[in-house]
Amino acid sequence: MHALSLLLAPVLVSAAAICSRDTSRAAYFLDNNPAGASIISLQIAEDGTLSNPVRTSTGGIGLFGLTAGTNGTAAAAGGADTLFTQDSVLVDGDYLFTVNAGSNTISFFTIDSGDPSHPKLINTAPTLGEFPSSVSYSSKLKTACVINGGSVAGVTCFSVDHAKGLSPQGGLRPIALGQTTPPVGPPGTASDIVFNPSETALFVSIKGAPPTPGSIYVYPVINGAVSTTPVVSKPATLLVDFSLNFLGTDSRAVITDPAYGASLVDISSTYTVTVSKQIVVTGEKAICWATFSSRFNSIALLDAGAPNVTLVDPASGAITGVVALDPAGSGVLDSKLDRTFMYILRGAPFVTVLSDLGLTHGKTPTELQSFDLSSLGSRQGFQGMSIYPSS
Ligand SMILES: *[C@@H]1O[C@H](CO)[C@@H](O)[C@H](O)[C@H]1NC(C)=O
Ligand SMILES: *[C@@H]1O[C@H](CO)[C@@H](O)[C@H](O)[C@H]1NC(C)=O
Repeated sequence: MHALSLLLAPVLVSAAAICSRDTSRAAYFLDNNPAGASIISLQIAEDGTLSNPVRTSTGGIGLFGLTAGTNGTAAAAGGADTLFTQDSVLVDGDYLFTVNAGSNTISFFTIDSGDPSHPKLINTAPTLGEFPSSVSYSSKLKTACVINGGSVAGVTCFSVDHAKGLSPQGGLRPIALGQTTPPVGPPGTASDIVFNPSETALFVSIKGAPPTPGSIYVYPVINGAVSTTPVVSKPATLLVDFSLNFLGTDSRAVITDPAYGASLVDISSTYTVTVSKQIVVTGEKAICWATFSSRFNSIALLDAGAPNVTLVDPASGAITGVVALDPAGSGVLDSKLDRTFMYILRGAPFVTVLSDLGLTHGKTPTELQSFDLSSLGSRQGFQGMSIYPSS
């Protein structure tokens, strides 16, 4: 008995340590503020609710994109998307990456599992372009890559080391965007950058200016490095190519398109992108963001111009439901899933927490919390959404 409890004690202690580690969770977004950018973390409780916002400087400054047709007006507060992107903040394992659009740098933080609300800045590195706006990371390649969407536009990659931080890996892979710094959009701007699930290729989405379609650039990974020569696809019905989310496999993805909704695409073994299904969401205003849940086998489309989350079946592309949120929060922007919860940055200064429980049995997700961000100052630069631990 005595011997048995001695044997069990270390097991129980380490189990307790793992459990307490599991209960430390946080959500993060960026304040892309030209006066000084910061990551804002929100503590996530066991029941999914948010509390305790904490600001941590990114070591750089933000910059607002300009709205087309307004003679140089910055993307406005109230539905503001000042970077025209998804994935401006990215968590992978204990790493957090973000962009400083006004400093032309990216920031690398590490996250302490016992205290995820206080990410630790390791270093920043020049992106070799202007207006960096979205970032992706491959843990297999230990490589982070960023898309620059200003007058010097293109993709730059960095090797990532826990202690040494970011080191540039080669030069800028230019993309002829024909943009200014800051860029004028949303049409004609850079959108999203993502590695595919097997981390064998890097994808970048670029918006067109209807009727001119946008493009998808794919940089295959060759001998452990992101190649410098992209495979470019311009399917005629991908107009304002915004976010790109893989659907659990290298061969299928959903691309949002504020011109009509979203499209399901097929990706060939040689990285050619073709549309398999155009999803027209009647009455949509600006569907720019999306998330895919393998657990609930569902795609959520987020509309910056309406408080609506549109649910889509990832196999057929059929619309399976609409969650109409509290209109006081305005539109729905960047969002991320964690366990059975969905965290959605709103156009007004709120983060909405949705519970997806029952979604697989046809139940409509319900609003669990509307977390007020007004104590944090201007909403205008808020952008991105990421969760620790990442799934
Ligand atoms: C656009 O802005 C510039 C600089 O603020 C100003 O000089 C010009 O008159 C404006 N043009 C229009 C059409 O409003
Ligand atoms: C939002 O959803 C409601 C309820 O389904 C619908 O009546 C409305 O037309 C939708 N609005 C937009 C802009 O999609």
